[in-house]
Amino acid sequence: LIHAWAPIPPAPLLSMSLPFQCILTGLWRNELGSKMRIQEVKGDGTFSGEYNTAVSLARRPIQSASLNGSQHFDEAGQPTFGFTVNWKSFSDSTTVFTGQCFVDENGKEILETMWLLREKAKAPHGWEATRVGTNVFTRIKRQNVDESVRSDGPQ
Ligand code: BTN
Repeated sequence: LIHAWAPIPPAPLLSMSLPFQCILTGLWRNELGSKMRIQEVKGDGTFSGEYNTAVSLARRPIQSASLNGSQHFDEAGQPTFGFTVNWKSFSDSTTVFTGQCFVDENGKEILETMWLLREKAKAPHGWEATRVGTNVFTRIKRQNVDESVRSDGPQ
C-alpha cells in the first residue's frame, strides 16, 4: 500500500507567508455569520467591497452595504487595515472596523478586528449611541461557497 504523503516543509517555510496572503481581496466570514467581499486592493492600499451582515438593530430588512477602506502592505505579512460600512440602504448607522491580518502556522489567514457602530441619535452627548465589539474573519474558500450554494438547492 502506497501512501501519498506530502513532504513536510522545513519550519522556516511554514512561517513564511505566501505573496497573496493578507492581501484582503476576496470573501470573508465572521463568527456572527456576516460575510464581506473585498474587491481588488489598489496599489495605494485602498479597497472597496460589499458587506452582508447576519445581524442588525434596524427595523428595515437587512440589505447588502458598501464598504471602503485601506490596508498596509507589511513586509512581515501582518498588515493592519481599516474600513467603513455605510448601511444606508436599510439603517442610519455607520460602522468602522479596524484590525490586523495574521497567518497561523497552517497558513490560515484571520482578520482580528474591533468595530464601533454609531447609531443615529436625536441629540448630541447620548451615551447609548455608540456600540463597540470585536469580530474575527476567516477566508471563505471558493469551494466552500460552491458547497453552501449546492446545499441550499434540491438534494
Ligand atoms: C444596523 O443594525 O444598524 C446595521 C447593521 C450593523 C451590523 C453590525 S456591524 C458590527 C457587527 N458585526 C457584524 O458583522 N454585524 C454587526
